[in-house]
Amino acid sequence: MNTSWITYAKLLEKELNSIELNSSPKELYDPIKYILNLGGKRIRPALCLMSAELFGGDIKEALYGAISIEVFHNFTLVHDDIMDEAPMRRGQATVHEKWNRDIAILSGDVMFVKAYEFLAKLDQKHLPAALKLFNQTAIQVCEGQQMDMNFETTKAVTLSEYIKMIELKTAVLLACSLKLGALIANASEQDASLIYQFGRNLGIAFQIQDDLLDAYGDPDKFGKRVGGDIISHKKTYLLLTALEKANNQQKLDLNLSLSASFTEEQKVTKTLAIYNELNIPELTKAAMQSYFNEAMESLNKISAEKELKKPLSDIAEMLMSRVK
Ligand code: IPE
Ligand code: IPE
Ligand code: MG
Ligand code: MG
Ligand code: MG
Repeated sequence: MNTSWITYAKLLEKELNSIELNSSPKELYDPIKYILNLGGKRIRPALCLMSAELFGGDIKEALYGAISIEVFHNFTLVHDDIMDEAPMRRGQATVHEKWNRDIAILSGDVMFVKAYEFLAKLDQKHLPAALKLFNQTAIQVCEGQQMDMNFETTKAVTLSEYIKMIELKTAVLLACSLKLGALIANASEQDASLIYQFGRNLGIAFQIQDDLLDAYGDPDKFGKRVGGDIISHKKTYLLLTALEKANNQQKLDLNLSLSASFTEEQKVTKTLAIYNELNIPELTKAAMQSYFNEAMESLNKISAEKELKKPLSDIAEMLMSRVK
């Protein structure tokens, strides 16, 4: 069998919609149901299932790992939206907007625990390694998120510091999803490490793409507030590349456009104008492509028939042309 992302996404949707939760207090549980049913792309759990399938693992067991990772991911989104003061997620109000911050913090905490509840359902023989991987990844995500927040108020951030930050906040979770699938399927150390590297580079490309969409996405499709990164002074691939390429005047304008004397709308318009002058969208796409190519090299090295790797190469390609 060679299962496509669509088939997996449907299976995952069913599982996520039927997660058992207490009913009271409503304020704690309603936001969890809300965010889990808001229709994300389900990339990470699909990667986990595809990896398990590639290495001949038990899909039923992999499903526990997949759900665990998607619940964890949704928890990070709820807390990320508080930190980023984001009003919109997946085309709807964020949890802290619809309810409030305290509710978003607590329902996020429950989701973090629920993620472990699913992970604990893995076969005993896989659990120690799975926990080690999951714990390490969860801590790395926090480290990346802290760097992301620190960078909002740090003037000189280098591109390599930026890449480290997105590796931690985003890429390691995609890598973990794939490695978890490999672990459940008892893949060799070498293949598990190759699939981890595939996910890591794909994840870096994915976050660079996310930065690009945050500035240039179609507001009707992206599902998040376009321009949000500019408004909150995020050190994105776009901004750092623009600062590197800018002449003195453009540098001044870029810094000025981030200053308090402009309205949010002016900040976005002025920053985008400089990005366009400096050809930033094309440079960003080239960087994405280069990490994507590295990801594919690792995938190619995995010891399995090319045909069996097709769902993974398809989903990776699909991700590079995503609009949300
Ligand atoms: C959003 O992840 C957070 C990032 C790492 C950019 P996704 O783009 O996978 O979000 P959903 O789950 O599909 O909504
Ligand atoms: C989010 O990065 C990474 C995590 C949620 C850990 P972003 O802040 O760019 O994600 P979005 O754009 O809000 O989805
Ligand atoms: Mg955010
Ligand atoms: Mg963020
Ligand atoms: Mg983003």
